[in-house]
Amino acid sequence: MPHSQKRLKMEPAIDAIQLLQQQHREVEEIFAELESTSALNLEKRQDLVRQLVIALEAHTWIEEKILYPAGLEVDPVLTRAAVEEHSLIQHMLHKIVETEADDAAFLPRVKVLKEIVAHHVAEEEAEYFVELQNKLNRRRLADIGIEIHDEFASRTKRLRVVV
Ligand SMILES: [Fe+2]
Ligand SMILES: [Fe+2]
Repeated sequence: MPHSQKRLKMEPAIDAIQLLQQQHREVEEIFAELESTSALNLEKRQDLVRQLVIALEAHTWIEEKILYPAGLEVDPVLTRAAVEEHSLIQHMLHKIVETEADDAAFLPRVKVLKEIVAHHVAEEEAEYFVELQNKLNRRRLADIGIEIHDEFASRTKRLRVVV
């Protein structure tokens, strides 16, 4: 049996795309919870903003570091558009972090970020991820899956200390 086949059998397979989609669902849950909070519960809002920062920073970082370089070979136009959307997401995220949780602008800003993220996620899931799944070979996707899994865990751990 070739060595690579042996490795595949021994390691649990990690589906990169499934993992990223799971992270999208987690971000959507944080948005839903955040939108249901009241300005009277500042602590809850601050905690959810912190969760959102960690989830979005870690997710966009691993996509840009691990998935998008492969995506650049497959579809440079969509990949560059995705990077631009990430920078828009970062910008809006920082704006929310700077907004007091009881400010009247807080929820409207959360709503704007939620819409930008929803647009980006819909495009990734309906178009970009499908294209990568079809055009990248299985071994490469499996390697990306393992790397995404490990990097997301260590990035999240580091962010929890500093955010
Ligand atoms: Fe993305
Ligand atoms: Fe994503």
